[in-house]
Amino acid sequence: MILAGVKQNKPSAMGIISTLQGQYSDLAALAIIVVALAILISSLASAFKPGLRSIPGPLFARFSPFYRLVKLSKGHAPVFYRRLHETYGPIVRTGPNTIDISDPKAVPIIYGINSKFLKSAFYDTFSPFFEDKVMPSMFTIRDPVGHQALRRPVAQKFSMSSIKSLEPFADECTKIFVDAMKDLEGQRVDLGAWLQWYAFDVIGAITFQRRFGFMEKREDVQDMIGGLEAGLHYAGIVSQVPSLHGWLIGNLWVSKFLAAQPFFKVADPLRTMVQLSKITQECIDEYDRQPQKHGQRPDFLAWLRNEETKGKPMSNRDMMNHLSNNLLAGSDTTAISLRAIIYFLVQNRSVYKNLQKEVDDADNIGKLSTYITYAECLELPYLQAAMKEAMRCHPGVSYPLERVVPEGGTVLCGKHLAAGTIVGVNPAVLHHDKSIFGDDAATFRPERWIESDEEKIKLMDRHLMTFGYGSRTCIGKNISIMEMGKLVPLLIRHFEIEWASDKPEWRVETYWFAKQHGLQCRMRSRDVPARLRI
Ligand code: HEM
Repeated sequence: MILAGVKQNKPSAMGIISTLQGQYSDLAALAIIVVALAILISSLASAFKPGLRSIPGPLFARFSPFYRLVKLSKGHAPVFYRRLHETYGPIVRTGPNTIDISDPKAVPIIYGINSKFLKSAFYDTFSPFFEDKVMPSMFTIRDPVGHQALRRPVAQKFSMSSIKSLEPFADECTKIFVDAMKDLEGQRVDLGAWLQWYAFDVIGAITFQRRFGFMEKREDVQDMIGGLEAGLHYAGIVSQVPSLHGWLIGNLWVSKFLAAQPFFKVADPLRTMVQLSKITQECIDEYDRQPQKHGQRPDFLAWLRNEETKGKPMSNRDMMNHLSNNLLAGSDTTAISLRAIIYFLVQNRSVYKNLQKEVDDADNIGKLSTYITYAECLELPYLQAAMKEAMRCHPGVSYPLERVVPEGGTVLCGKHLAAGTIVGVNPAVLHHDKSIFGDDAATFRPERWIESDEEKIKLMDRHLMTFGYGSRTCIGKNISIMEMGKLVPLLIRHFEIEWASDKPEWRVETYWFAKQHGLQCRMRSRDVPARLRI
C-alpha cells in the first residue's frame, strides 16, 4: 500500500534479487513437485500395467529399471538371476517392462529360427562409433534386414569348411604360449591372463594376420584388455537403462571429450576402441598397398578383399565393422571359455586324469599330430564332453539375452505378454535346470555327455545357450571350438597343470561376460616323445 505524503523508498538491488530469488525458488519447487508427481504417476502406471502386474518379482523392480542397474552393478548376475527364479518361479518381473524367464519351453518361442522377437535396446550400448556415426555390428544390430546384410557376405568365412585354413594362425600362437610356459615352469603363473593374451593374439592373426604381441611382451599391450574390460563394465550396467547411454558415451560429444581428455588414468574403453580401429585401418592399408604380394592369404581381411575381386564389393565402413567385431566378439569369449575348461579340469583331478589318459592313449597309437588338428580333436570324445560341460557350467555370456515381444503379444509360462515387453533367458540360469541337465545340474560332470542316452543328450544339446540360440546364434562358434580343441589337449600333453592360488576358487565378475580372475596355476613339463615336441 502507498501512503499519501510518505516518501517512497526506491527498492534496493538486494531487495529485487531476493524477491526474484524467492519467485524462482517457488517456481523451482513447483517444477520439482510436478516432475516428482509425473515420475510417481508413470511409475505407478508401469508397476500396475495390465498383464504385467500379476507377474511376481521384487517390489522395487516393478517401479524402476534402476533396481536391476543397482543389483547388476555388483557383478554377480548369475547368482542374482538364479536367486530370483528360486524365489519367484520360472517367470519373474525384473523391471517395469522387463521379464526374466527360466522355463526351457520358452526358449524356442523367443529365440527360434523363425521367431519375430528382435533384440532389445540393451544391445545399443555395445555399438561403437566409427567416423562419428554409431556403427551397429553384426552382434548389436537390431533390425533384421540390416542384420542379414551384415551376416550374409561373411557367413562362408565362418563355416566349418573354411576353419581348416585358419589353423596355422592358432598353431603359431600355441608355439609362443608353450615356450613361455616352459620358461615359467614351476612358478606361479596367472594362467587366466595368459589365456586371454593367447585368445587375443590368435584372433588378431585370424582377422588380419597381425598378432598384438601380448604373449611376446607378456603384458596387456597399450592396456587394451583393461580398456575393453572397462567398456564391458560400462555396457553391463548402463544397458539396464539404455536411454542413459545417449547422455553418456553414446553421445558423440561426450565420447569425443572423454577420448581427448588427458586426465583419467583409468582404462578407457573409448581409447581402446580408437586404438583397435587404428590398428585395423593400418592392417587394411598395409594390405592394399601391395595386394598381389599377399597371394591367397587365409585371414579375414585377405578373404574379404578376394571376395571383392569376385564382384562382391564391401565399403570401408563394413570392412572395419567386420574386422573390429571379430576382435571384440572373439577374444574375451574364447578366453573365458578356455579359463573355464582349465579351471574345471584342474579342480577335478579325476576328470583331469581321464582326459590325460585319452590324450596319452591317442598319442601312443599316433592318432594326434605335433600340433593337434581340429579334425583330430573332434575325435577325442572325453575332451569334447569336458569342453562342452565347462561352458555349460560357466557360459561366457551370463546375462539374459534380451528380446522384444513382437506385434500381437505372446504367451510365456501361461502369462500373456503385450507387444513391446522385454523378455530374456539367461544361459547361466537355464544351464542349471534340473529337468534338463539332471539333479546334479550345478556340478561339473563331463560324463553326462557320454553316459546319457541319445534322447537325453539331444535334449541337453537343445538347451545349451553357451553360443546363443536361433537366428542370432554365435557365428564364431567353430573358430573358438577349433582354438580351444587344439590348445587344451596340447597343454595336457606337455604339462601337468596344478592349482597354485592361495584361494580355493577363482573370482568371477559378470558384466555381460562372466570374466574370471585368480586362475593361478603351476605348470610342470611332462615327458613328450621327440616327434611331438614343439
Ligand atoms: C567360446 C567363445 C564364444 C562364446 C561363448 C560366444 C558367445 C556368443 C553368444 C552367446 C552370442 C549370442 C548373443 C546374443 O544372442 O545376444 C554370440 C553372438 C555372436 N558371436 Fe560369439 N561367442 C564366442 C566366440 C566368438 C568368436 C570367436 C567370434 C568371431 C570371431 C564371435 C562372433 C559373434 C558374432 C558376430 C555374434 C553375433 C551373431 C549374430 O547376431 O548374427 N563369437 N556369441
